[in-house]
Amino acid sequence: MKKSLIAGNWKMYKTPKESIEFVNSLIKNLKDYEDRDVLICPPFTSLYPISQIIKNSKLKLGAQNVYFENEGAFTGEISPIMLKDIGVEYVICGHSERRNIFGETDEIINKKVKKVVETGMKAILCVGEKLEEREKGETFKVVESQVKKCLEGFDKIEEIVIAYEPVWAIGTGKTAQPHQAEEVHIFIRELISKIYNKDIAENLIILYGGSVKPENIDQLMKEKNIDGVLVGGACLKIDSFLRIIDYRR
Ligand code: 13P
Repeated sequence: MKKSLIAGNWKMYKTPKESIEFVNSLIKNLKDYEDRDVLICPPFTSLYPISQIIKNSKLKLGAQNVYFENEGAFTGEISPIMLKDIGVEYVICGHSERRNIFGETDEIINKKVKKVVETGMKAILCVGEKLEEREKGETFKVVESQVKKCLEGFDKIEEIVIAYEPVWAIGTGKTAQPHQAEEVHIFIRELISKIYNKDIAENLIILYGGSVKPENIDQLMKEKNIDGVLVGGACLKIDSFLRIIDYRR
């Protein structure tokens, strides 16, 4: 059975002390699920202390970014080996904030995805169109180009998760309607089926991200091709994150 994945992207929130308090409370209140995995992606400074706390729990640990070299004179960067060494299992690659604020290109993201998987972790590849692209009817074209370029020359597709995050829905309170998300998820699955094969496409986890909250999680998760969510703002408060994790289909 394919498990769903509920992931929290903390972005640039929570000091190590706040992170530890949050995770202790999360572990205490988390139910024992068989059909879903729960992943948290805190800032770099909180990864190590959290990795120690969650060792005997079912929580999974992810990072929000990485560099594509193992070591070297790359001031300010973090290497995949450093992440793997402390128990990080997933790395978000190509989040729209990395693309739009920090100028990450599909080519850079391609190198990151490959390096993450080569190091033995799973990459969460983020794709999604901007508002003006959607309004011009270019959603599928943009998503197709991002998926193809970010996965060029990459064959370990079993080791990645794709997150569809329409930029206009991130942090805006405007969630994509479940059917709007579903049609892009279907498109991505068909694209992966064409590039790789049907089996791989069926087993691929495709997450939706963009203003996911307790009020809309159940509707989103009812869609057949939505295998989980990547949550921003609503994963920072324990009650709302617990309710999202506890979605009912
Ligand atoms: P929000 O849930 O705050 O819209 O953020 C979504 C996101 O960017 C997750 O990566």
